[in-house]
Amino acid sequence: MSRHQYLLATSILSADFTRLGADIAEAEAGGADWIHIDVMDGHFAPNLSMGPAIVSACRRATRLPLDVHLMVESPDRLIPAFAEAGATHLTVHIEACPHIYRVLQSLRGMGVKAGVSLNPGTPAEALVEVLPLSDLILVMTVNPGFSGQEFIESMLPKIASIDRWRQEGRYKGYIEVDGGMTAETAPRAAEAGADVFVAAKAVFGHPQGIGAGLRELRAALKR
Ligand code: DX5
Ligand code: ZN
Repeated sequence: MSRHQYLLATSILSADFTRLGADIAEAEAGGADWIHIDVMDGHFAPNLSMGPAIVSACRRATRLPLDVHLMVESPDRLIPAFAEAGATHLTVHIEACPHIYRVLQSLRGMGVKAGVSLNPGTPAEALVEVLPLSDLILVMTVNPGFSGQEFIESMLPKIASIDRWRQEGRYKGYIEVDGGMTAETAPRAAEAGADVFVAAKAVFGHPQGIGAGLRELRAALKR
């Protein structure tokens, strides 16, 4: 299958929570394609972040797809609440799901797009049996937990393996990369086969503002 166009998924993990609605509106006006929401439970990932109430607040703040990344243990217990809150894509970690096949089936059954994510230490091969059930594969290019970490270079061949499956027609969804995306690293991930780029610091931490951060990433991906 041919590659999707490049999409920018702006992660609100680095947004200013005192003005979340305004930051999201600025990201939308600046050309963000999706709003990425990082959910962490303090167990699967060493940080605590957002719950379904934030997803429903985001749902009221924008019409963009809400790309919800669940870095939690036993995500199946929380999935209905996030689906009801308005998630468009719900991505679970394969490391947190002994019954990943069932979880992906149930996501599609609820009418949300089914995503599966791999930590840096998990090989692409772990996904082979669930490729037909996945709408999105999220390759972590940092260890889950925090914004502002450095891109892990050695993830590039993993992205390329998944893209090879897509070219062979074994996988038909998105390949999303998450962590350490900058104007330097995003084009390299694109070259390996990624088509959705999550960015928090490069957007919300850009010295010239949110719009400038998005424009810089977009321009880098066009080169
Ligand atoms: C990390 C999260 C990422 C994070 C990316 O656990 O999954 O989405 O917000 O942050 P940056 O773009 O700053 O590396
Ligand atoms: Zn994320």
